Amino acid sequence: MTKVEQRKSMLEEVLGGLNDPQKSLPSKYFYDERGSKLFDEITQLEEYYPTRTERKILKQNVESIGQYLGEKVVLIEPGSGSSDKTRILLENLSNVSAYVPIDISGEYLFNVANELQNEFPEIKIEPLQADYTRSFELLEVMPDGRRVVFFPGSTVGNFERDTVDRFLNVVADIASQTGAFLIGVDLKKDRQVLLDAYNDSKGITAAFNKNILRHINRILASDFSLSRFDHEAVWNEEEGRIEMYLICNEAHEVAINGTTIAFEEGERIHTENSHKYTLDEFSEIVSPWFEVKKVWTDENNWFSLQYLEPK
Ligand code: AVJ
Repeated sequence: MTKVEQRKSMLEEVLGGLNDPQKSLPSKYFYDERGSKLFDEITQLEEYYPTRTERKILKQNVESIGQYLGEKVVLIEPGSGSSDKTRILLENLSNVSAYVPIDISGEYLFNVANELQNEFPEIKIEPLQADYTRSFELLEVMPDGRRVVFFPGSTVGNFERDTVDRFLNVVADIASQTGAFLIGVDLKKDRQVLLDAYNDSKGITAAFNKNILRHINRILASDFSLSRFDHEAVWNEEEGRIEMYLICNEAHEVAINGTTIAFEEGERIHTENSHKYTLDEFSEIVSPWFEVKKVWTDENNWFSLQYLEPK
C-alpha cells in the first residue's frame, strides 16, 4: 500500500468506527513509532507479565521447541516488529534455515532484516512488507523447507472471533499440510492480575491508549484533544477479555477530514480487546484447522506457547 492508500483506509476505518453507536477505533493504530515505543515500555513494567513470561517460556524450552519444529525450518512471522522473541529461536536453533519477517512498516522491517542478516549469516532472511490482517501475497520465491508460522505475543487475543477464524485459515494455507504453527496465547487468570496489567501505576498503558488519537491526528489532520479523554481498562467476564476504552471527560466535537464527530461527557471509544483463553477454549477454536500437539507454560500457568499441526 502507498502512503495515500494507507491514509484512505485509515480514514474509512476511523470514520466507520466513530459512526457506530458504540464508538470504536482499530487497535492496530496504536502502533506508530511513538506507540511502538510506549508498548515497548509496557513490556518492561512489573505489572505487565505477558512479554517476560513468554520470553522465559521460549528460553527454557528452546531445545524441545527445536525438536518439534524439525529440520530445515522456514520460520514465517506475521507482524514481526523488532523480531525480538524470534532472536531467541534463531540464536539457539541450528535447524532454522530461513526467516521471513512480515510487517506493515517497510522501513523498520528492512532495517531489522538487515541487522538479522548480519547477525545470522547462515540463515536466509527474506523480509516481506504486507498488512497481514488483510490478504497478502506470499513471497514468489519462498525459501525451501518446512514452513512454520510463528505468532508470539498473544496478538491473537486482539482479534474478534471471526477475525481469528480468517487468520487461522490464512495460517493453515501458509503452513500447508507439512508445516506447523507456533503461537503465544495468554491464559485466563485471577482478575486482579489482569486488571493491574492493563492499568499500570506509571500510566504507560494510559499514554499508549491515548496515543491512538495522536496517531490519527497526525495522519488525518484531525483535532482530537488527548486531555479530553481518560484511559479505562475493564474485564468483560462474558467475553473473556480485557477491554480498553477512552472515556470522554467533557462534551465536545472533533473534526476529521471535513466530518464532525460529537462526543458526550462519559461517552467511551472502544480501542482494544485482549482475549484470554483457557487451554481447552483455545484448542476448540483452532480445531477446524489445527491440532494442538504441545503446550509449554510457566509455573503460574499465566501464558502458553503452543505447537499446532494442520489437521
Ligand atoms: C500486544 C496485543 C499482546 O493485548 O496485551 C498491552 C497490547 N494493550 N497493553 C495486549 C496491549 C495494552 C498487547 N498485545
